[in-house]
Amino acid sequence: MATFPKPDARPADPRFSSGPCAKRPGWSLEALGDAPLGRSHRAKLGKAKLKQAIDDTREVLGVPADYRIAIVPASDTGAVEMAMWSLLGARPVDMVAWESFGSGWVTDAVKQLKLTDARVLEAPYGEIVDFATVNFDHDVVFTWNGTTSGVRVPNGDAIPANRQGLTICDATSAAFAQDLPYDKLDVVTFSWQKVLGGEAAHGMLILSPRAVERLESYKPAWPLPKIFRMTKGGKLIEGLFEGETINTPSMLCVEDYLDALAWAKRIGGLAELKRRADANLAAVERFVEANDWLGFLPKTREIRSNTSVCLTFTDPTVTALSPADQAAFAKGVASALEKEGAALDVGAYRDAPPGLRIWCGATVELASIEALLPWIAWAFEAEKQKLAAKAA
Ligand SMILES: Cc1ncc(COP(=O)(O)O)c(C=O)c1O
Repeated sequence: MATFPKPDARPADPRFSSGPCAKRPGWSLEALGDAPLGRSHRAKLGKAKLKQAIDDTREVLGVPADYRIAIVPASDTGAVEMAMWSLLGARPVDMVAWESFGSGWVTDAVKQLKLTDARVLEAPYGEIVDFATVNFDHDVVFTWNGTTSGVRVPNGDAIPANRQGLTICDATSAAFAQDLPYDKLDVVTFSWQKVLGGEAAHGMLILSPRAVERLESYKPAWPLPKIFRMTKGGKLIEGLFEGETINTPSMLCVEDYLDALAWAKRIGGLAELKRRADANLAAVERFVEANDWLGFLPKTREIRSNTSVCLTFTDPTVTALSPADQAAFAKGVASALEKEGAALDVGAYRDAPPGLRIWCGATVELASIEALLPWIAWAFEAEKQKLAAKAA
């Protein structure tokens, strides 16, 4: 049997994980030299660093001046849970999901908070819920970019400016790579570990004035642990939005986030971050176009993510396999890529359809994506040959 030759060069950086994502180009531990280690985060220096992280976030993302920004515990999950537990229950809620993380928020609303006035709107992997069917006079919880299906909301046009409900948006794999229409979003959350390649365990929570109004006028029927509390005596705890965190943050991670934000500003801010992710996606698109054995999991181009790019094998010899064998095939490709040092952590998410997921966010270099693509062709051929050998 003819062997498919290995490509000549490997990506300079084979890290294409969808979280924690690759560090920014040129990053080294030296970037953390100014971290105020062993000092209190409530000392003047620590507080100034935390405030800087909030201010730089506002600057790079273009968050409106009247929106509050807080650093909260437990990464993106912490920020979403904090919002859901603090805000939901005041009016009916539409829980909108099209992949694994969105489905997790549905479970929380229905099974944990036990909201009786919850409507669940779901779409299968690769598709998106039609926003025309969402009632924006209800509160609405949704994910901007579904990391496990590579499907994103194309824009906020379907969200009315004069909605009665609050829109609570998990934007963790969208922030810093896609436009977020803040006038249409009341809560936006993300983690440092995604598009900016920061560290996990710290979440960002952005609140519109209407979300703050809800916090100050509504008390949920359930108890709120200290880690979720944003008000005291019915008033917003303003210090939280100036860097006075609820509990102790890692100042090493804060320094790393500041470094990532400084890099973002140096290279040209949000426009350049988006351009880098778009260019990475475009390289993958050219490759998919040229290879009919590969396709995108998202059904249409409009909803295709430029960060978590999800691919499926469309070759008839693969699609004819049983679901378990298709999953084994895709795993085989991902592990061949890993063994060769061509790509790390590119297997599809455990609950998603079999395939590959390649992180294309801003910290990933176009040259690395371009060097990876011929390796995917090589690994695909190698797996196919294994299949043929088994059948023989
Ligand atoms: C859409 C989405 N929501 C939530 C999470 C959970 O993020 P974290 O582990 O930072 O809390 C992830 C992680 O990949 C995600 O992709």
